[in-house]
Amino acid sequence: MTKSLPNLAVLGATGVVGREILNILVENNVEFNSIKFLASKKSAGSTIEFKGKTYTIEEATDNSFDGVNICLASAGGETSKRFAPVSASKGCVFIDNSSAFRMDDNVPLVIAGVNDEDLRKHKGIIANPNCSTSQLMLPLKALDDKYKVKRMIVSTYQAVSGAGLKAINELTENTKTNLVAMPYTPSAFKYEIGFNVIPQIDVFCDNGYTKEEMKVTNETRKILHFNNDVKISCTAVRVPVYVGHSEAVSVEFEKEVNALDARELLKQTKDVEVIDDVSNFKYPTPKDAAGKNPVYVGRIRNSIAFDTGLDFFCVADNLRIGAALNTVRIAQKVIEMKLW
Ligand SMILES: NC(=O)c1ccc[n+]([C@@H]2O[C@H](COP(=O)([O-])OP(=O)(O)OC[C@H]3O[C@@H](n4cnc5c(N)ncnc54)[C@H](OP(=O)(O)O)[C@@H]3O)[C@@H](O)[C@H]2O)c1
Repeated sequence: MTKSLPNLAVLGATGVVGREILNILVENNVEFNSIKFLASKKSAGSTIEFKGKTYTIEEATDNSFDGVNICLASAGGETSKRFAPVSASKGCVFIDNSSAFRMDDNVPLVIAGVNDEDLRKHKGIIANPNCSTSQLMLPLKALDDKYKVKRMIVSTYQAVSGAGLKAINELTENTKTNLVAMPYTPSAFKYEIGFNVIPQIDVFCDNGYTKEEMKVTNETRKILHFNNDVKISCTAVRVPVYVGHSEAVSVEFEKEVNALDARELLKQTKDVEVIDDVSNFKYPTPKDAAGKNPVYVGRIRNSIAFDTGLDFFCVADNLRIGAALNTVRIAQKVIEMKLW
């Protein structure tokens, strides 16, 4: 029996990621039978424009998932923990942006185009990786396939939009107070973000790393099916940029590698764009990436720290490949692979 088009729900439709999901559903021309928009009680009753029609936002309740085939969720971990099992029990595939289920053995953690086959194992919930992990997976998968990753050190420079609407507003307000030398009490961050950088994203773990940093280690291993012999260390830093995460990456490989070949390989890699011509000062910056879909890679060079290693700089729109774009692409794969 051929399936007709799915009924969709967007949970967290009023949030930073949720709004981007709506844009990308339109851009990617995702076809559906029906669509509904869910948020908290706070937004229930307000309206949203989508594809020329006005929809009323509904408060998410257990009944919201009746008759829905695929839910694209970005409403925080607690909301996902509350609704994902309900959604799954009603036969709806819940694609979750939060960290609630990412390391659950029964939940595939997927970057579309990198480990699509893992989708076949889903039991009603599919997780979208953390934004800093997501953007790295496309170039890293190509490099791993050819040279085999042995060890990796990542330093991130993460935009405030990764922390939601409140953090975006805080950067604006705190920049203004700095310019007129007014005092400011931060609330979205532990310290002032205006004209500052903060080496803490998420809470600290017992090993001295933050949860965000451990997400890069653990999620990378899960997505690329690395065993524990592959050592990964990350330092995650918040920077005063609205959109676009940057990452400085040092990788040691098992096989011989050189920057020229790696650059050519990455130029051929789907959804990766190489901007790398230092003689003409060409390399990617977050401003190049904001609002765009590719992961941009530059500053590709032979490592002077590892004998068989590379260093590179990678930049992407954290709201797109780091969240909404991958969520929509997963939904498209679920439809294409008939997994709903
Ligand atoms: N921002 C990023 O770059 C990024 C990247 C990857 C993953 N994520 C994850 O995506 C999720 C959303 O992030 P965001 O940045 O979009 O946050 P946000 O701007 O604060 O939006 C949160 C959304 O969740 C809804 N919500 C909150 N509590 C709810 C509840 N009890 N029931 C139903 N809906 C509820 C909100 O609805 P109301 O408007 O009604 O409050 C809003 O639509 C988080 O889990 C975050 O970790 C974000």
